This record gives sequence, C-alpha cells and structure tokens, in this order.
Amino acid sequence: MNDNSMDRRTFCLDMGRLVGGLAVLSSAPWLHGCTEESIAGIGKEVARIGMIGVGSRGQYHMHNLQGIPHARIVALCDTYPVNLEAAHALCPDAKTYSDYRALLEDPEIDGVVISTPLYNHAVITLDAMAAGKHVFCEKSMALTMDECKSVYDAYMASDRVLFYGMQRMYDPKYIEGVQRIREGLIGDVVGMRCHWFRNADWRRPVPSPELEQSINWRLYRAYSGGLMTELATHQLEVCNWVAGKVPVECVGMGDIVYWKDGREVYDSVNVTYRYSDGRKICYESLISNKYNGLEEQVLGKKGTADLSKSFYYLEDDNEISGMRHLMDDIRKGVFAAVPSAGPSWRPEYKGEYVPHQLASEVLGVNAGQSMVSAMHDGSDLAMSAFCTSCINGERAANIVEEAYSSTMLCLLGNQAMDEGRLVRFPEEYKIPYLKF
Ligand SMILES: NC(=O)c1ccc[n+]([C@@H]2O[C@H](COP(=O)([O-])OP(=O)(O)OC[C@H]3O[C@@H](n4cnc5c(N)ncnc54)[C@H](O)[C@@H]3O)[C@@H](O)[C@H]2O)c1
Repeated sequence: MNDNSMDRRTFCLDMGRLVGGLAVLSSAPWLHGCTEESIAGIGKEVARIGMIGVGSRGQYHMHNLQGIPHARIVALCDTYPVNLEAAHALCPDAKTYSDYRALLEDPEIDGVVISTPLYNHAVITLDAMAAGKHVFCEKSMALTMDECKSVYDAYMASDRVLFYGMQRMYDPKYIEGVQRIREGLIGDVVGMRCHWFRNADWRRPVPSPELEQSINWRLYRAYSGGLMTELATHQLEVCNWVAGKVPVECVGMGDIVYWKDGREVYDSVNVTYRYSDGRKICYESLISNKYNGLEEQVLGKKGTADLSKSFYYLEDDNEISGMRHLMDDIRKGVFAAVPSAGPSWRPEYKGEYVPHQLASEVLGVNAGQSMVSAMHDGSDLAMSAFCTSCINGERAANIVEEAYSSTMLCLLGNQAMDEGRLVRFPEEYKIPYLKF
C-alpha cells in the first residue's frame, strides 16, 4: 500500500443508497464485484498486476491502482522507453519489460492491464489469456470485427476474467440514471441522441519523425478506428444499456473537415443507428468545435434525461398554454399572419426547461463537459472490481458482451461511412447475448 491507499470499503458501491437500490444488480449484474459482500470475501489478499502500455491511460490506471488496497503493481511494460521510465518513476519497485510476452511469462503476475493503442488490443488480450492471466483491456475491444469475434470466442473457451475500460458501467450517476429511466422516469424511450464535441487536434508532440505513427496512433487507420472507437464506443454502450438491445443497422457520413494534416481518420462523424423497433440513436462527433460538449440524451415520451450531465427534464414542467405560445410568437414577429388551426393546434416548444437531478447525489464530473481524466468517473471502481475478480476468479457479468457489441457498432459505423451505404449487423458476428 502507498500514500493514496484507501480502505477497501471505499470501493464498494453502496447499493442501498443508490436510486433503484438492489434492483440495480439485476439490470447491471456486473456490479456484483463492487458489493460489500464481494469485497469482504477476498479478505486481505492482493491482486498482483502487470501493466502493458504505460502511456497516458496506463499511468492514469496506475494512479488508481495505487489507491486500491487489494492491488499491487508488480510489473510494467512499454515499447517506448520514455513512457516506461516515467511509469517506473511512479512505481520504482515494479519490474520493467519492453516485450509484453516476457511479462506474461512471469508467474508472479495474476492479471494484466492493457492500455496500448487499439490495433494490438486483441493480440495482447489473446496472448495474456493463453498465458493464464486475467485481463483488463482498455476499450475498444479490437480494430476489426474478426478480432472481436476471436477475443469473444477465446473468452468463452477460457476461465479467465476479462474486463474492458468502459467506466460508465461503474459510474454511480450512470447506474442510477439508467435504472430510473428503465423504471419509467421519462416514459417510453423513443430515441437517443449522443454527441461528443471537442476543439483540439488530437495530436501529440513527436520527438522524431519515425515515431509519428506510434505516438499519434489515434490518427492512423492501421492503429485506430478514430472518433468511433475512441469516443463513440462509450456512448453507444450506454444507449444499448438503456435500450436493453442492440441496433440492427446504421448509415453515416464521415469526413476530414478541418484537420487536413495528414491524418487518416475522420474528424467529423455522423452515424444514425436503428433498432429493430424503429428507435434511433443519432450519433455525432466533431473535434473542431466544442459548443455542444458531451451529452447522452435519452428521449422519452414524458421527458428527456441527459446521462452525462445527470439531469432530466419533463415535458409537462412549465408547459405554456397554446394561446400564450401563440401570443409570444406574434409578439416576436414569428408569424406574418396569425395561424389558427383550431383545437388541433398545440405549442411546439416548452416555456422553459426545468432541470431535475437524475442521480441521488451531485455526481456530475466537470459539469458534464468532459469526462477525460475525471476522478471517480467509475474507472477506479472498475479497476477495483477487476482486482477483486483476479483474486476470487469470478467473472463480471456482461462486460465482455457489452464491449463486443459497442465495438461492433463503432466498426459498423465506420464501415457505413467509408462505403456510404446502409450496413446491417452481420449474421456471422451475432453472439447469443445480443438482443436485436
Ligand atoms: N476508458 C477511457 O476513458 C480511455 C481514456 C483514454 C484512453 N483510453 C484507451 O487507452 C488506450 C491507450 O490510450 P493512451 O491515450 O494511453 O495512448 P498512449 O499512446 O498514451 O499510450 C499507449 C502506450 O502503449 C505503448 N505500447 C504500444 N504498443 C505496445 C506493446 N506492444 N507493448 C507494450 N506497450 C505498447 C506505447 O508505447 C504507449 O506508451 C487506448 O486504447 C485508448 O482508447 C481509454
């Protein structure tokens, strides 16, 4: 343990205090690893963790792991010496490796945390499970649909624990928000709108030109699926969690609108996904304007919930009368002539939107504007749950399946944009878990 160590109970989700209480465990069964009972069950045992990839996200995970009493980082691996040295400075007692296969041979390691670029997630995950290690891999699952299927099949054939870095699944404000939506808070869910807007080039400084692709891997197609696999993957998972199913098809448009700097991935994406019942997810992401920030809006017949900001709005709050609406419009000069369509005429907008808090506590992170490097956004709980699973060998329900489906949707979105056509979820990649 070190200076940021906390009591094990810090890593329990207090189900009694969450809105929806124990019902949460049936709609989010992966949270069993965070219950008091589960954490008490591991006694004083500690999971010995090897880090593979210790760049930005890997070091963030190290920080979280160093605060988890039932975790100890025992080994670090990175192919880039600068990052390996920086990580070693954070954790001087850990062994260091430049080849992850050598790290996997170390019998002192129970589980590995993979925070490498997307293109090698699948191969390292497969090798790690084959070497008998439990695995926490960052999202997304893999760069291709075939790789996703290989990882899923290997997981099903193995007894190893596998987690993915989808921290919203462990974030109390999402857990409560999804639960309340499922319990009918905003009426029938009729659609979803998600977006993630930033205004930055996504580039990192490169000390020498031959390192361009390995450092700026996000920008190149051999390494990355761009905005879809980096950002959309989190948000599409949330949509499926709310809907309890997976879209059947999508269409989209992707372009490089602003950052014409040699990158290969789109800097502007719009993808519409359709569920079998006709409901849609409108997904949009742009990295040259941040006015709209980050939102995950669930549209219900009675109201709208924004899971990222943890607010909801009801359609009936402050509803203005049709006559008042008409008078307002006339005063504002909206109409050249007075429209009067008799009793069928209804106001088209609300007088004022009144936000209500969605989760029981104020759990917003950066006022919902950015989740990046956010503290207590579920990443620490997810890592704690992984370490608990490394000790007791119990798999967390549904995580692999959720990672599989959200990654597949990102890859389908990219395919729809690349090919400019409607793409259906391919039969050969349907797994039994998925409901359409
Ligand atoms: N869950 C989240 O919110 C979140 C946030 C940020 C990043 N991520 C994910 O984390 C992963 C890493 O992102 P990042 O921003 O830390 O990238 P990064 O470039 O900062 O770090 C990746 C590191 O992996 C190393 N690496 C590459 N190949 C390797 C190999 N074969 N063996 C060992 N090390 C290897 C690189 O040298 C680098 O140090 C990505 O999959 C990204 O999508 C997730």
